[in-house]
Amino acid sequence: MSNGSDKNLLNGALIGCGFFARNQMQAWHDLEGARIVAVCDRASANVAAFQQDFGIDQGFTDAEALFEACALDFVDIAAPTPAHAELVEAAARHGVDVICQKPFAGSLEAARRLIELCSTQGVSLTIHENFRWQSAIREVVGLVADGVVGKPFFGRVSYRSGFDVFANQPYLAELPRFIIQDLGIHVLDIARALFGDVGRLSCETARINPDIKGEDTATMLLRHTAGTTCVVDCSYASILADDPFPQSLLEIEGPGGTIRLQQDFLLELHQPDGTRECRTVAPDWPAWSRQPWAVIQESVVSFQRDWLACRRAGHPAATHGADNFNTLSLVEAAYRAAETGQTVVPERWP
Ligand SMILES: NC(=O)c1ccc[n+]([C@@H]2O[C@H](COP(=O)([O-])OP(=O)(O)OC[C@H]3O[C@@H](n4cnc5c(N)ncnc54)[C@H](O)[C@@H]3O)[C@@H](O)[C@H]2O)c1
Repeated sequence: MSNGSDKNLLNGALIGCGFFARNQMQAWHDLEGARIVAVCDRASANVAAFQQDFGIDQGFTDAEALFEACALDFVDIAAPTPAHAELVEAAARHGVDVICQKPFAGSLEAARRLIELCSTQGVSLTIHENFRWQSAIREVVGLVADGVVGKPFFGRVSYRSGFDVFANQPYLAELPRFIIQDLGIHVLDIARALFGDVGRLSCETARINPDIKGEDTATMLLRHTAGTTCVVDCSYASILADDPFPQSLLEIEGPGGTIRLQQDFLLELHQPDGTRECRTVAPDWPAWSRQPWAVIQESVVSFQRDWLACRRAGHPAATHGADNFNTLSLVEAAYRAAETGQTVVPERWP
């Protein structure tokens, strides 16, 4: 692959110039070592807008034409899930490393096929799973991994809001599967980052908003294989005086104490001797970030920075395809558990 004049500079293309992709473009702009040389979207107006807003010379409305015309090191796919398989396959065929938005496949079977195809073609597949990259979440993941409260016996990962997400993403109102697939996938991934893989799961869902098709609340009970019991709950139907959108709140209890990540990044550590440590772990917001999305935007920069470091070091990023299969499988298990009223054993890679 050609890297232009600087062999350390990776040339990438972004496919899917919609709502969320703007964050990914801004993040690439912030990072050294990679640049977006082309953008692609089925809608020519979206291509033109991104070319103009981000100063990109090459624009395409067809992915195959993009891959034929450009010598790329990587592609960043920010199109919706139904388009992912075709785009990942095209990238793999052209020997281009792939970053793909979540959920990266519409079924576990499709996910398996894409992971195997990328492996056969010798390209990396990484899922753009950014929530575990929020700096406050990383701080707590680090404390748990360091054994600060011992082996956790209880966890809670909670995301509750009444924010109107349908204003920016109207397609969400039409999804027959809504909150677990769109948002739950992130908080389930946080639970995996904290406590590891899941042995069994049960789930209750409800649709509160009558104007949407899918469920907008879900409460999941996870038994992690390492022993932690974790409640993962999410809602876009909560009427809250001080809405934390889009923050994820955490509770971890172990024999050595309790960790809580509360609203506005207040981190509390309470230990058996009565010691209580409170500090704010608010991140450094990117200059281009805007509230209330800054916490998400910051995590996009961190995810992409780590992807670059892993690419340079030649090892897989944390949320590589096979890892994220185990998050996607929790989504599938949650819907099955909610439909059947049964506890479900999620599929696990391989
Ligand atoms: N990580 C997060 O926090 C987060 C937040 C929002 C959305 N997302 C994910 O990002 C993805 C996009 O969501 P969005 O809200 O930006 O959607 P969007 O509809 O605003 O944008 C998607 C764009 O992809 C284009 N597109 C569709 N099919 C295409 C194809 N085959 N080739 C080229 N372009 C194509 C569409 O024309 C559109 O411009 C989804 O997978 C979604 O789940 C992630």
